[in-house]
This record gives sequence, C-alpha cells and structure tokens, in this order.
Amino acid sequence: MGRFADYDPAAEERPKLDASCIRIARLDDAETLYAISAERGDESDDEPNLPNVISRIRGELEGIARDAPWCVYVAELAGEVIAYGRVRDLTHAEDGLPTECPEGWYLTGVIVRPPFRRRGLGALLTQARIEWVGERATEVHYVTNKRNVTSIALHARFGFEPTDAEFAYPRAALERGAGRLYRLALR
Ligand SMILES: CC(C)(COP(=O)(O)OP(=O)(O)OC[C@H]1O[C@@H](n2cnc3c(N)ncnc32)[C@H](O)[C@@H]1OP(=O)(O)O)[C@@H](O)C(=O)NCCC(=O)NCCS
Repeated sequence: MGRFADYDPAAEERPKLDASCIRIARLDDAETLYAISAERGDESDDEPNLPNVISRIRGELEGIARDAPWCVYVAELAGEVIAYGRVRDLTHAEDGLPTECPEGWYLTGVIVRPPFRRRGLGALLTQARIEWVGERATEVHYVTNKRNVTSIALHARFGFEPTDAEFAYPRAALERGAGRLYRLALR
C-alpha cells in the first residue's frame, strides 16, 4: 500500500458518514492508533520495539486529559476505530520544527484506513481539529509532501493556503524542497 492515497477527483460518490463517529482518543485506543499507522507504513513492525512505541502513544493519549499542547481525534464505526487525526503545538527546539516554519498549532497527521476512505472521515477529523485549535489560536498550519495531492485536496476545502517557506524537515521525512507549509487563518 502506498503512503499517499491515489488522487482520484472523479471517484464514484460514497455515502458520507457524519460527525457522530468522531471523538477524542482514549487511552485504550493506543494499540489501534499504532496499527493504523503501521498499516500505512509510518511505524516499523519491529516487534522488540513495539512496547516502546505503544508506551509513547499511551503517553500522548494520557497527556490529552492533562491539557497537554496536543490532541488526537479518532473516527469510530460499529465499535472499531478506523481513522485518526493529530494536532499539536509545535516548537523548533522540542519538535524539530524547521525554523522557516512558525511555531504554533499544526495538524500533524490524518490517516483513514483504506476501506473507509472517501466517506468524509478525513474531512470530519480535519473539521474537529480546526475547531479545537480555533478555541486556542488564530491560525493553524500543516506541512505535507508536495506529492501528496490527495492530502492537499482535502485541506484545500477548508481554505488552507500555501506559503513559500523552503525547508528541510527530517522528523517528517521531508528533504529540502519536498514539503510545503500551508496556513489557515481562523476567525
Ligand atoms: C488523505 C486522507 C486522510 C483523506 O481521507 P478521506 O476520509 O478519504 O477523505 P474524505 O472522504 O473526507 O474527503 C474529503 C474531500 O477531500 C478530497 N479527497 C479526499 N480523497 C481524495 C482522493 N483520493 N482524490 C481526490 N480528492 C480526494 C475530496 O475533495 C473529498 O471530497 P469528495 O469525496 O466529496 O470528493 C486519506 O486518503 C488517507 O488516509 N491518506 C493516507 C494518509 C495521508 O496521506 N494523510 C495525509 C498526510 S498525513
């Protein structure tokens, strides 16, 4: 499976899901979040390291209740978590955010499991995260690989605009020139 969904603007319309399947992630979602990420190829399936990865995700989820500077939303259908989206207040020093990108709130990743795509979940998770940031700040950013045209199409619906920042972002696996920074003004 490719890391990016194929861009298919003419895909047949699928019945859309609604916001009732979106909620903030709980501690017991940690394993599923890992599995969704591993299915996309974002996490290695190196078994000895698995407890560390799960514990890192559990720490992230525990932080939500403590009002940490991040949040994770999931989409749940028939009792199964099938998608998630992260948002985080990124800094240059702690998060390796390139200095060419402003510190602040970023949508830091959204994944919908392949069988559930084009049903509106990516958009619902993005809407929820934008609203979440809207209660805390007046702008939100995201960074994507320029080749991820599907992700760009999804975010464009919310009014994100490209910037001309040039950067390398190793933590996001982006070499100089490979990524683009997008900004959305809120309010
Ligand atoms: C990007 C992704 C999250 C979109 O999730 P999704 O649930 O399929 O998206 P939605 O159904 O909410 O789509 C909303 C709109 O985005 C655009 N869009 C979404 N997928 C698209 C595609 N494959 N081709 C063209 N446009 C697309 C369309 O405008 C779509 O509206 P429409 O279906 O009414 O035409 C999903 O494809 C995915 O998980 N990709 C792999 C991970 C990834 O690249 N994440 C982003 C960077 S971290």
